[in-house]
Amino acid sequence: MINISCGKWQIILKAQKESKLEIVHAGPLLSHPEEVINHRPPVFPWLNKTDWAYPVRGGGTFHEPAASFSFSDGQIGADLFFHSHTKKSFDDGALWEICLKDSHYPLEIILRFRTWDNYSVMEESVLIRNRGGEEIHINQAASGFLRLKGNDFWLTHLAGSWANENRLIEEKVERGLKILDSREGARTTRHQNPSLLLSRGRASTETSGEVFGLSLAWDGNWRLACEKDDQGDVLIQGGINPAGSQSVLPGGTEWKSPPLIMTWSGEGRGPISRQLHRWANDVKMAKRHEEVPVLLNSWEGAYFNVNSDTIKKFIHDAADIGAGMFVLDDGWFGQGDDARNSDKAGLGDWEINKEKFPQGLAPLAKKARDKGLKFGLWLEPEMVSPQSKLYREHPEWIVNNPHHQPLTERFQLMLDLSNREVEAYVFQTIDQYLCDIPEIGYIKWDCNRQITSPGSASSNPSTNDFFRHYEEAFLRIIKGLREKHPSLLFQACASGGGRMNYGALEQFHEFWTSDNTDPVQRLFIQWGSGLFYPARAMASHVTSSPNHQTGRTTPLKFRFDVAMSGRLGLELQPSHMSDEERTFSRRAIKEYNRIRPLVFDGDLYRLRAPYESPLTSILFVRPDKKEALLFAWLTQRFVGDNYSPLKLQGLDENLSYSLEEINPLPPMVDPSGIPLPRTSTLYDQTVSGSYLVNHGVEFQFFTEYSSAVVLLKAK
Ligand code: DGJ
Repeated sequence: MINISCGKWQIILKAQKESKLEIVHAGPLLSHPEEVINHRPPVFPWLNKTDWAYPVRGGGTFHEPAASFSFSDGQIGADLFFHSHTKKSFDDGALWEICLKDSHYPLEIILRFRTWDNYSVMEESVLIRNRGGEEIHINQAASGFLRLKGNDFWLTHLAGSWANENRLIEEKVERGLKILDSREGARTTRHQNPSLLLSRGRASTETSGEVFGLSLAWDGNWRLACEKDDQGDVLIQGGINPAGSQSVLPGGTEWKSPPLIMTWSGEGRGPISRQLHRWANDVKMAKRHEEVPVLLNSWEGAYFNVNSDTIKKFIHDAADIGAGMFVLDDGWFGQGDDARNSDKAGLGDWEINKEKFPQGLAPLAKKARDKGLKFGLWLEPEMVSPQSKLYREHPEWIVNNPHHQPLTERFQLMLDLSNREVEAYVFQTIDQYLCDIPEIGYIKWDCNRQITSPGSASSNPSTNDFFRHYEEAFLRIIKGLREKHPSLLFQACASGGGRMNYGALEQFHEFWTSDNTDPVQRLFIQWGSGLFYPARAMASHVTSSPNHQTGRTTPLKFRFDVAMSGRLGLELQPSHMSDEERTFSRRAIKEYNRIRPLVFDGDLYRLRAPYESPLTSILFVRPDKKEALLFAWLTQRFVGDNYSPLKLQGLDENLSYSLEEINPLPPMVDPSGIPLPRTSTLYDQTVSGSYLVNHGVEFQFFTEYSSAVVLLKAK
């Protein structure tokens, strides 16, 4: 028996020498784990029993296998048997390595389970070894696999489109194979996210239900497969998408999968998010203790119309409102006809435009530094515009089947990172910038298209595995830059939500959550994203009103109150703001810097979903429960609508809390002149945790797009 325990849950495997490895339990901790081995349920003798922990094509399963291989003698299929296992203990968990061997071929698979007990989070991955001399072809290989007993499962996942990412989908798992995947090569998480929840028995709520949470830590093409088999059990797996990723394993070599992150809760989906967030913050994320400051980004305020004078003004305004960084977005590079004055030219020519910036960027970066600001720069390093010097010099450097006409998207092509020469060029170009302008403290790494025609003109021996080669090169570039410039902060932008996965989060400090900055739609996008990813990683910007994506008009307070539930930034033209708006913004940024530790490191409790009612609410609670931050947003107001009080689960019922309103507005009157009350009578009061948890907080909002942010402190 191999008992992989992980905080609140465990996976139990039945391991007998020269037998197939079976999975006999995945779920809550059992006080006598051996019982699940000793008391296996009866099985009719005519049924094919395949409870394999890592089923492979040819090894007795007819369902979607976790892996499939072909061999140099032309045979397909493997037959794996348990050989041995080891366990290494660490202060925070353990690493199990379980070795399976094929009965004939020199194929060895090591299943690796790394657990972190305090978070109830584990990562499963596989290492595939070719111990012989002939090639082995890996047709597919999942990072992890689970067989879950039971007939009644619900699947929750995130899907959407540009500017509408991570909408929540919930469905009952029915017979058949459900595939969630991406074949986009880059920007692989905009339409679907490689994460899911699976709840047993019934759809989970925030506080009830047995739930498994899975997320693949891979930024390239991915696939999660969920199959309800002929017995009604659910088989679930995740890994690199086999479509276009067939690897050849020469004799004596090995292949490593990315990790599949898994967690479990017996009390609904709320704990799933909190476990993942804490683990992400403490274990997984790039540089955990370096935070991206509140920033002002030039995009929606200036688009491509940037030059030395406009940027000086931006920097001045950023300092004036108390931001910690200015980010120069698109539009600053390319020369002459190749100048980046629109999205039609310039990508790949990472030379500062001499007309717009005659003195270059260094004086601006220094100016920012002198004003106490970091300087950030937008780059889209994987791209080239057909209208560019780089493309004229190296048309063979693009991703494409060289015998076909290249297809553009947003008027651009992708650079073929699977070609080592191109990889080196991209690394050196960025590295040179960072060496020349050491004041650059942040890179917004954009990626505005996917790979639709994979292929390479280089001598890369196998374009069958193009996508993996591309992704590995991309990760090498980022890793290399981070090693050489350790204080640099990186944002994974990818036109919003396109690189939102734990593979990217290992290298990047945050995501650009969505190009949609409309606060109402952001509530939905951030709600979905927050199921799996921590608030620290979700860049959220206040933009001008009417909003540029939806045309919706919302008050500045509402926009701040939404953006403050992630990593706050501003993306507008400050010179268009009124004095009142500037004053409000200055104070809100100051407040945010005070409350940010709660947003970044607090435990997230989702109190009411935007899907359920126009009153949406979340709460961040410090782990010791001494402080909390409540957000409530109203997106629609009908007279007579009444919402039940928000019960602040997560607080300590035995403590008392004072309530302070953040971002208060001046006293308001209705159009006939009648003074309106403040949105809560609890502001500046002290009330018991018992009242807040069991009775709850009621707000009175007079108009739609009203909101409240409340800081709670234990007395
Ligand atoms: C897409 C990004 O998501 C935007 O924020 C902006 O940087 C543009 N690209 C610039 O072209």
